[in-house]
Amino acid sequence: MRVKVKCASVINVKCDLLVVNIFEEMEVPGGAAAAVDKKMKGAITDLVKSGEITGKIGEVNLIHTQGKLPATQVLVVGLGKACDFELDKARIAAGAAIAEAKKIKAKQVASIVHGAGSGGLKLPDAAQALVEGSLIGAYKYKGFVTIKDDSFFEVGELIIVEISKTKVKLIAKGVAVGEIIAGAVNNARDLVNAPANRVTPTFLAAYAKKVVGVSVKAIGLREARKLGMEAYYSVSKGSDEPAKFIVMKYGSGKPDIALVGKGITFDAGGISLKSSRKLWEMKIDMAGAAAVLETMRAISKLKSRKNVVGILPCAENMPDGEAQKPGDVVGSLSGKTIEIISTDAEGRMVLADAITYAKNLGVKKIIDVATLTGSCISALGDACSGIMGNDQELIDLLIDSGKRSGEKIWQFPLFEEYKEYSKSQIADIKNCTEQGKAGPPIGGLFLQLFAEETPWAHIDIAGTVYLDKGRAYLSPGATGVMVRTLTSYLMG
Ligand code: BES
Ligand code: ZN
Ligand code: ZN
Repeated sequence: MRVKVKCASVINVKCDLLVVNIFEEMEVPGGAAAAVDKKMKGAITDLVKSGEITGKIGEVNLIHTQGKLPATQVLVVGLGKACDFELDKARIAAGAAIAEAKKIKAKQVASIVHGAGSGGLKLPDAAQALVEGSLIGAYKYKGFVTIKDDSFFEVGELIIVEISKTKVKLIAKGVAVGEIIAGAVNNARDLVNAPANRVTPTFLAAYAKKVVGVSVKAIGLREARKLGMEAYYSVSKGSDEPAKFIVMKYGSGKPDIALVGKGITFDAGGISLKSSRKLWEMKIDMAGAAAVLETMRAISKLKSRKNVVGILPCAENMPDGEAQKPGDVVGSLSGKTIEIISTDAEGRMVLADAITYAKNLGVKKIIDVATLTGSCISALGDACSGIMGNDQELIDLLIDSGKRSGEKIWQFPLFEEYKEYSKSQIADIKNCTEQGKAGPPIGGLFLQLFAEETPWAHIDIAGTVYLDKGRAYLSPGATGVMVRTLTSYLMG
């Protein structure tokens, strides 16, 4: 979908669908909706009076203009109650409008910016949210389908209409940012939705190397072994698919911040084999790596002033005669030893060496993103990601960036008491516990052993990575979660 900004009045714009908005509990339309209403001889007011238009968030009402306007149809989208309005409501409204546009096969859609008037949003922010909601909302994973039905219809153009010239400039700023961020989110969704026989560690390395403005190296198994990354490479021992430890550097100086993304391109569980129920879904276990990769692309396009390194430990976790076994003890880049209780707790193994690798580069902060624990899904569902770490300021900043981006994040505690659970008699730590209590924090505490004193936060995205049912502007499937939050954090 192309996005354009046009300096014009909504009543003069020719398009298939013109989108205006209304707040809940508003008795008469305001702003652009009022101008349209006037031309339409009070059609919107009538629908408000009859109760058909309520203004509830994401509600859509379609009106044929019958030649009263250059637009063929008008869509009135609800913004919810004015007192509850915030940035994500603008995304939700935009997503609802684009979904309706797809449904009626509108090629050319014109829209006003939602929420910058009485909604009180800053204009560039509102424009960015409009573009994010529209482009993320319009996303459809094309996959490998050759027989295409109506669901593949694509809106060709979104024209953002604003009558004031000075405002057009502010809108254009927000649009440029929104396009970059939504593009990165949708790329991440493509990577996560794609099957594991396509998105292999080798594929991800080649894909990362194509990111403009970022220098990329991919460390193969032999080199990883030579470097002493035993925790990392032992995970891939049961797979014939070559592992790649990908390092992406952005910026001119020494990296200050490391983003680490779990890149298990398929998690069968290894010898601690998972059950076959929904096993296909474990192609999503590289979503942390996808989020980091696409964040690197976004910050490069947005010209962040920060020096950032993205570290993507990628491998497949499979069972075969050479696979690591429960009970094995493995070393790590840090020198610390790990007793493998379950080969299915492989994410923390590859992250441990990636965190040490980041520390060896001398970074001042580490943020890791991982589909780490099924128990995070039990605790928080798909509504929000879990966060934990050793630096409250960093955690708070990430939670705040999430809020601005429309990605909820909730903190788990890393209580000292939990450390007892994963004490090993024969190594420095167990990779997980037998009882499975406090799953997300046990994963977090394992990683903390490797982060040591370096300020670090761990974001568990097991629940938010993939939606069975769609929600608001996110369709079912991969969400591209954390691209928005991480980009917002790094641009802030
Ligand atoms: N990749 C899984 C976690 C996961 C499960 C992500 C479902 C998304 C959806 C991870 O590697 C795993 O298997 N974790 C184990 C940890 C346990 C052995 C301590 C789990 O959650 O059961
Ligand atoms: Zn696993
Ligand atoms: Zn996993």
